[in-house]
Amino acid sequence: MFVSSLQDCALPLLREVIPTDKVEVGFKDLDAAILVGSMPRKEGMERKDLLKANVAIFKTQGEALEKYAKKTVKVLVVGNPANTNCLIASKSAPSIPKENFSCLTRLDHNRARSQVAMRVGVPSDCVKNVIIWGNHSSTQYPDVHHAIVNNHGKEMSAFDAVNDESWLKGDFITTVQQRGAAVIKARKLSSAMSAAKAICDHMRDIWFGTPDGEWVSMGIYSTGNSYGVPNDLMYSFPVMIKNKTWKVVDGLAINDFSRGKMDGTAAELVDERDTALTFLGA
Ligand code: LMR
Repeated sequence: MFVSSLQDCALPLLREVIPTDKVEVGFKDLDAAILVGSMPRKEGMERKDLLKANVAIFKTQGEALEKYAKKTVKVLVVGNPANTNCLIASKSAPSIPKENFSCLTRLDHNRARSQVAMRVGVPSDCVKNVIIWGNHSSTQYPDVHHAIVNNHGKEMSAFDAVNDESWLKGDFITTVQQRGAAVIKARKLSSAMSAAKAICDHMRDIWFGTPDGEWVSMGIYSTGNSYGVPNDLMYSFPVMIKNKTWKVVDGLAINDFSRGKMDGTAAELVDERDTALTFLGA
C-alpha cells in the first residue's frame, strides 16, 4: 500500500522503493533520513515510560546512521517527542555533525502562519517570519513579534495587521500549541497531510535554502546561541538556510513576555533531556 502510494505520486526523484526491516539496508549510504516512527503515548502511560521506549528506538536509529549513512546525511526527526528523540539520535551518531540533525517544528510554523493569515483575511504566503521557539509540544512558543504581513498590498507588523493584541497573546498561542492534540482528538489519529507538507517544506528548504529575507523554524542543536537558550538541547529557532547550512537568525529583540515563554519551553526540554539521558546508557 505504502509502496504503491509512493509510486502513484509519480515523483520524478523516486528511483526505487526498497521495503526492508534491516538497518544495514535501510540506512545504507543515506543522504537524507526522515525518522517518522516513534512510540505514541497510550492511555495510562507516564511521560517517562514514553521517553524510555523512544530513547531505545532513537538510540538504535542513531547508531545505524553512524554505521551506515553518509557523514553528510541530513536527518529530520518527526516522531514524538521529536526534539528529545532527535537529541538522542544525534548523540548516538557522534561522527555525524550535530548540525546535520533537526526536528520538525515547521508544522507549528505553518499553523502559526495560517492562523494569522485567516485572521487578517489574506493568503498564508502573505505572512512571513513567524517563529516557533522551543519544544514541539504544548509548551512551544509561537511568536509573531517579528512577523510581517502583506495586508492587501501593504506590509505591516502582525500586531498592526491583526489589531487584536489579546488574541495574539492568548488564543492564537494556545491554538497553535494545542493543534496537534486537537487533531488527534478529532480524528483519533495524528495529523497526516499537514505533517507531510511540513516535512516537504523543511527538507526542500534544507536543500534549496530559504528565500532572501525570510526565515523558517527548525528544531536544531543549541550551542552558544545569543538567546540564552541552554546548550545541548534540540530547540526550535528561527533559521535561514544557504548551501545546505542553517544559521540562527541573531539579534531579534526579545521582550519579557517572550522571554518567559522561551524559558518555559527550554525548561521542559532540559527536563526531557535529563530523563532521556538516564535511559541512554541503560
Ligand atoms: C502534531 O503536531 O500534529 C503531532 O505532532 C501530534 C502528535 O502527537 O502526533
